[in-house]
Order: sequence, then C-alpha cells, then structure tokens
Amino acid sequence: MILKDHRGAPVSGANARSLELYETAISQFNCYVGDPVATADAALAESPDFAMAIALKAYLLLSGMERGPVPAAAELLARLRQLKLNDRERRHAAAVACLVDGAYHRASERLEDILVEDPHDILALQMGHLLDFYRGDSRNLRDRVARVLPEWQQQMPGYHALLAMHSFGLEETADYARAEEAGRRAIAMNGRDGWAYHAVAHVMEMMGRYEDGAKWLREGEDGWAPESFFAVHNWWHLALFRLEADQNAEVLKLYDGPIKGGQSNVVLDMVDASALLWRLQLRGLDLGDRWEAIADRWQPLGEDRLYAFNDAHAVMALLGAGRRHEAERVVATMSQTAQKQSDNAAMTRDVGLPLARAFLAFDQGSYPAVIEILRPLRNIAGRFGGSHAQRDLIDLTLIEAAQRGGQRKLVRALANERLALKPKSPLAHRYRDQGARKAA
Ligand SMILES: [Fe+2]
Repeated sequence: MILKDHRGAPVSGANARSLELYETAISQFNCYVGDPVATADAALAESPDFAMAIALKAYLLLSGMERGPVPAAAELLARLRQLKLNDRERRHAAAVACLVDGAYHRASERLEDILVEDPHDILALQMGHLLDFYRGDSRNLRDRVARVLPEWQQQMPGYHALLAMHSFGLEETADYARAEEAGRRAIAMNGRDGWAYHAVAHVMEMMGRYEDGAKWLREGEDGWAPESFFAVHNWWHLALFRLEADQNAEVLKLYDGPIKGGQSNVVLDMVDASALLWRLQLRGLDLGDRWEAIADRWQPLGEDRLYAFNDAHAVMALLGAGRRHEAERVVATMSQTAQKQSDNAAMTRDVGLPLARAFLAFDQGSYPAVIEILRPLRNIAGRFGGSHAQRDLIDLTLIEAAQRGGQRKLVRALANERLALKPKSPLAHRYRDQGARKAA
C-alpha cells in the first residue's frame, strides 16, 4: 500500500513507523530543534528504501554549506537513483543532484518546480528558502513562500514554519511591520520555532531596536535555545543587540559562552564567531587570544572553496589571529576559484574575493584601498548570500576605514545614512559626531 505523508503526498518505500519518524524529522527541521539527521537515520533503519527519508537526509547534510558532508550526500543520491521513484521523488533526486554539484541556482529552480506542482511540499519549501538565503535572493525569500501560502490551511502540520519563513522574507525585503506580525503569529502557533524568533530579531536589528531585540531574545530563550542546532546564531543576534548597547563585557561573555567562540566545528557557528570578533575589533576592543581558537578551526579548511561567504569569514579570522600568510593563501585559492565556471565562482568573483582583498587591505592599514573596494561592493554584496544583518559587517568595515583613514566627510555621510535607518544607534551617533567635528 502506498502511504501518504502528513500533507497528502504519496511516499515510496515507507511503513507507518518510518513515516512517523520522517514526519518527526521534518518537524525538527521546521523548528531547528533536536537532531533531524538522527531521526532520518532511524526512519531509514526501519525502511532503508524510503525515498523521501533518503532525500531528507541528503538535504540536511547539504544544508550547512560545508564540504565535509558532500560525499555522504552523493552516496545517498546514488541510493535514491536506484529506487523506483514517483514523480515528486524524482524531482527531489534531481534537486539533490544539483546541490551535490554546487549548482545552487539550478537547485533552487528545481525545488520551485516541485512547489508549483505541490505547494504543500514543506521540505522543498524549506530547502528552497535556505538556498534563497545562501544565494542572497531576498525577493524569493519572501515570494517563494507567498506563492504557496494561500494553498495551505492553518491547521496543516508545519504551517507555523511557513509563517516564520514568510516573516524572514518580509524582513529581508524591508516590510518590517508585516514581518514582525507573521513571526509573532508563527510563535503563537509553535513556541519552539527558532526561525520565527530569528526573523523577528532581524526586524529589530534592521530598525535599530536594540533594546527591544535583546528583550525579545532573552524572554524567548526557553523557546528558541534548548536543543536547537540554530541557537548559536540567535545568541549571535543577542550579542549584536548588546554590542549596539555598548555592553562589551556581556558580548564577550556571550562569545565565550553560548556562541562557543572557537569551540565549534560547525561552519555556520564559525562564521558567526568570526563576524562577532571582527565587529569587536573594529571598535578597538582587546580580544585577548580569542582569534587564535577560531583561526585554528578555519585552518584545516584552507583549500576548501565551497562557498565565498564562508571564505570571507575565514580570511577575517586568519587576519585577526595575525596569520596573514595563511589569509593570503586563502585569497589566492579564492582567486583561482573565481576563474572557474560555477555558482560559487561567480559569488567569489563578484563579492567574496574583492571583500577578502578589502580585509587584507584593512589589516595593512591601507584604508583608501578598503574604501575604494567596499563603496561599490556593499551595493551588490547580496550576491554572495547571507542576510542584511550579516552583510552590515561590510558597512561597518567601510565606515571604520573612513574613520581611521581620516576621511571625515565620508564618515559623516555614512553615519547619516546609518542614522536614517537606525535613529537611536549609539554607534552611528558616535561616528556622526566624530565626522562632524573634523568636517566642520
Ligand atoms: Fe540572522
């Protein structure tokens, strides 16, 4: 008998027990809690030929933009291709194949095709959403969800996750009021939805509501933190709010504590740790030997050019630790990647490589070179993925380069721009004051 999943799609190779485990893994993935890979494994132990459980595990392995799990995902793909698949499963196999090959734009399109056929395919939606994030496709972060949302009923399992994804897409397209409303609705439906907490935190970050943001994450901690594999990133957001409030000691405590600075091998965590230290360093704070541990984590990935966004963060950490030679080696391999033909080659060419070169220049105190690279780059930086909040690091580096390079009028102009978006930002006010004094 052909079973159907909780949203009505037929699934091949499952039994009732493995299907329940698969649905549990989907719910874990929706909320970013628990260990959905282990749950998918349990489903596969029960039903080794359960096609969608194989596809789910492959997606999960590929969802962190790391090289390490790619061979295991390729093996799962080979297993999937040996099975008798239905049409939807075949489409998923094709999307997984694109991801294994690093064809991120094509994978995104294939996932979209699945959603056009079946708007209830929440796995296709969430993987597509993550790819929109990694590709910096803010319009699709919003509209991929908008295209399916009216086809759902609120009582369908996973509806909260749609609202959370829509919230993040609305935030990345600067529709802050609707974003906040959707995120709060998601949490009212499922208090463990870490993506919804995150989306609302982004709204507050973008509007400069740093006190609201800290309160939001502190009060919601029991919802988004326990057993969440996404918690480090929400802790990172809390650290940004506290940094804006000039609570530097607290930021370092968060870095050394729940952000696991330098103690995690998960690349997404390493990205957050590196970015936070860079922001602290821009403020001239003493970081002790903190750069050492995070640079040690990046070191083994020296030749790994899977994703330009990660590479730029590796360069930051290596420079922070004073390992300029290693940083230059990463930039040299990025330069080789930029000459190839792939989605990551384009991301590297357009954004990752010039940004990494700007970091090298900053490290040398060549502030005019930093300014020359970053002024045009920040307007197209979305092409290498990440969120506005993450890419704000580029703007922060630019304004600090202008400050250190004595370009006071530029500091003032950039501070004005920042204050228009974040009128209460103490940092932006400081820059404006500094720019005003000398520009006058
Ligand atoms: Fe974020």
